[in-house]
Amino acid sequence: MFSQDACFFHRQLDEMSKSKHFFQNLLKPFTSSANKDQQEDDLEKIAAKEQKNFSFEALVAATKNFNQSQKLGEGGFGPVFQGKLSDGREVAVKRLSQRSAQGKKEFLNEAKLLSRVQHKNVVNLLGYCVRDAEKLLVYEYVANQSLDKFLFKSNKRELLDWQRRHDIIVGVAKGLLYLHDQAHCTIIHRDIKGSNILLDDNWVPKIADFGMARLFPEDQTQIHTRVAGTNGYMAPEYLMNGNLSKKADVFSFGVVVLELISAQKNSSFDRDPDSGNLLEWAYKLYKKQRTLEIMDPVLVSSADMEEVALLVQIGLLCVQSDPQSRPDMDRVVVLLSRKPRHLEEPTRPGLPGSRYRRYRPGTTSSVTGNSDVSSSGSFGSTNTRTATSTATGTTSSLVKPRLDRHGKRPVID
Ligand SMILES: Nc1ncnc2c1ncn2[C@@H]1O[C@H](COP(=O)(O)OP(=O)(O)OP(=O)(O)O)[C@@H](O)[C@H]1O
Ligand SMILES: [Mg+2]
Repeated sequence: MFSQDACFFHRQLDEMSKSKHFFQNLLKPFTSSANKDQQEDDLEKIAAKEQKNFSFEALVAATKNFNQSQKLGEGGFGPVFQGKLSDGREVAVKRLSQRSAQGKKEFLNEAKLLSRVQHKNVVNLLGYCVRDAEKLLVYEYVANQSLDKFLFKSNKRELLDWQRRHDIIVGVAKGLLYLHDQAHCTIIHRDIKGSNILLDDNWVPKIADFGMARLFPEDQTQIHTRVAGTNGYMAPEYLMNGNLSKKADVFSFGVVVLELISAQKNSSFDRDPDSGNLLEWAYKLYKKQRTLEIMDPVLVSSADMEEVALLVQIGLLCVQSDPQSRPDMDRVVVLLSRKPRHLEEPTRPGLPGSRYRRYRPGTTSSVTGNSDVSSSGSFGSTNTRTATSTATGTTSSLVKPRLDRHGKRPVID
């Protein structure tokens, strides 16, 4: 009886608050800019209550005034500093470079949304801070830092035996599946790569820098723009046409899988002079049924060869040229969790079979024609092919794009 009354009371309250919202919504268009400022202040107060809105002073103190000695590294969005909060928590503070066009309110809204993302294989965003033009993100500090610092260093990669590499691949797949399909909002990462996979003290992988696609949306109105992402990891349809989808992340994941197995970096591949990049090399050996030759020699003593061959095939399925043919992360996780009885044959990685125009916002460029513009080299090397339309058809030319010092796609002009 009591609980029924309580239910009724809550329903009444609910109705009252709904009608209050109804009237508030009706009044919305008439609210003045002063009210808007008030709303922004309220938003900040709510965030402060949740203790996610850090004061600038707290972050200055935590990082010893952003001292160089605290610097963990610097990517395309600004430097990252190690720090310790007054309550003892170890943090990594990303001080965003000031070219973000996003306003304060939009930034806070997105950061708030992203701080609700919680998964074992995703770095925890503890909070954020905005002070004048400064925007900062506060993450949990992940003890072993990033995967690239182990994988591409000859004296450190021995620490990553087969079981660890296998578990890292499975963990990243689960983290990515969560971001794509299980979090409260769909999150396309846009920049999956070794430096954005952090390893904790138990070697559990955690995806870092998720949500940058939301915090730094590409400005569709600009003629000159950058396609955010890193050379060697970007799917061809995203690199050339700006088509960003979950399947672009699947492609980058596939590159990471092949890098983890081979310890070769796709963007600076030089193992085989006849292959333009790691993907092409892996595919070539796979077709010749010599898949295991791509394996990092360090793994010989610890690897399960059947598992290695299976993971190479899954990696190759993820980097297929046609986004539709790539599996989604749901399927990847299933494939990784039990040995499939039948696994389809991957088609060539990269560009073959399609023509792509270099992405320019404002144009409706998409895949055109179907001749093979890259029969001598496919996507993923440091060279990028552009295709330009002519009256008689399409010609392609090989150009070396100007990259910024972080290997990101620069302003295209
Ligand atoms: N939460 C964290 N815990 C520990 N180390 C971190 C954390 N976040 C970043 N780092 C370290 O800081 C370095 C710099 O990170 P940052 O994201 O700025 O650069 P990046 O990943 O190389 O480039 P990008 O801007 O494309 O992400 C990383 O390589 C990583 O080793
Ligand atoms: Mg990063």
